[in-house]
Amino acid sequence: MKNEPTCSQAELKAEIEKLRKEKNAVIMAHYYTRPEVQEIADFIGDSLALARKAAETDARIIVMCGVHFMGETAKILCPDRVVLVPDMSAGCSLADSCDARDFAEFIAAHPGHTVISYVNTTAAVKALTDIVVTSGNARKIVEALPTDEKIIFGPDRNLGEYINSVTGRQMLLWNGACHVHDRFSMQGILELKKEHPDARILVHPECRRPLQLIADKVGSTAALLEFARTDSAKEYIVVTESGILFELQRKCPGKTFIPAPADEPGCQCNNCDYMKLNTLEKIARCLRDEAPAIEVDPEVAARAIKPIERMLSLS
Ligand code: 13P
Ligand code: SF4
Repeated sequence: MKNEPTCSQAELKAEIEKLRKEKNAVIMAHYYTRPEVQEIADFIGDSLALARKAAETDARIIVMCGVHFMGETAKILCPDRVVLVPDMSAGCSLADSCDARDFAEFIAAHPGHTVISYVNTTAAVKALTDIVVTSGNARKIVEALPTDEKIIFGPDRNLGEYINSVTGRQMLLWNGACHVHDRFSMQGILELKKEHPDARILVHPECRRPLQLIADKVGSTAALLEFARTDSAKEYIVVTESGILFELQRKCPGKTFIPAPADEPGCQCNNCDYMKLNTLEKIARCLRDEAPAIEVDPEVAARAIKPIERMLSLS
């Protein structure tokens, strides 16, 4: 069997550089993507920053290196741009935990509620929503609503519990979760803390409530990065997807970051396999082919854009 010639990373980077210029493309990446992807991106950020940046770019092509809902959000905000995703199968277990038809029934069963959805949802779920939030602005947006407003929050129950706890609200929560963040091991983290007593614990709010309670900082990926950058400690136990270690290390070169273990010993569960589907090969290929491109049903997009724009105006 004839072997396909393989390109070196340097060749791929050079090809991406050439195509990005020729085609007026901007490459955006989430903090959970592979280091080599973060390295070549024009912009890296959390979900909120990626949505903002997509809304303001004047590039003809947006290459969204993240997961499907991030590409979809960019396409809804910029319908006249080509939004490419390096791998269409980069989904999200949290978005999958909230089927639009089931969510519509849940909303119908609880009339009189404002519907808030986390950005980790399909366009169809956003179309049922009053305000979209990210982990970076959920607290601020919920606090901006009257205290007696009845709220449905979906799909992440852990983020919902966190927002309820810090705002004193009693939002009605959809029972969804992320397969990465829902599986961190409390015992493993406490053992790490015993070995590194001065380490601060950084926790993403998609993690379970007991982990939020032992955290020194609970926040979005961008908020955790900012905390580590400005904080005086030297060591951190990082309870979120392991891709963030690359940017943590880059922003805080003198500090030590210890990835938290997942519940199942030996399992690489602190990795989001979907995020890791973004590779240099696939970025080069999607720029070359201008495919795969995200398309959103115009009727769904027309409804989904309202709660996204409401989020952007409130945060
Ligand atoms: P952030 O918005 O904090 O970057 O989180 C996105 C995400 O997918 C978390 O799992
Ligand atoms: Fe979705 Fe979880 Fe991956 Fe984030 S880490 S993209 S919530 S599956």
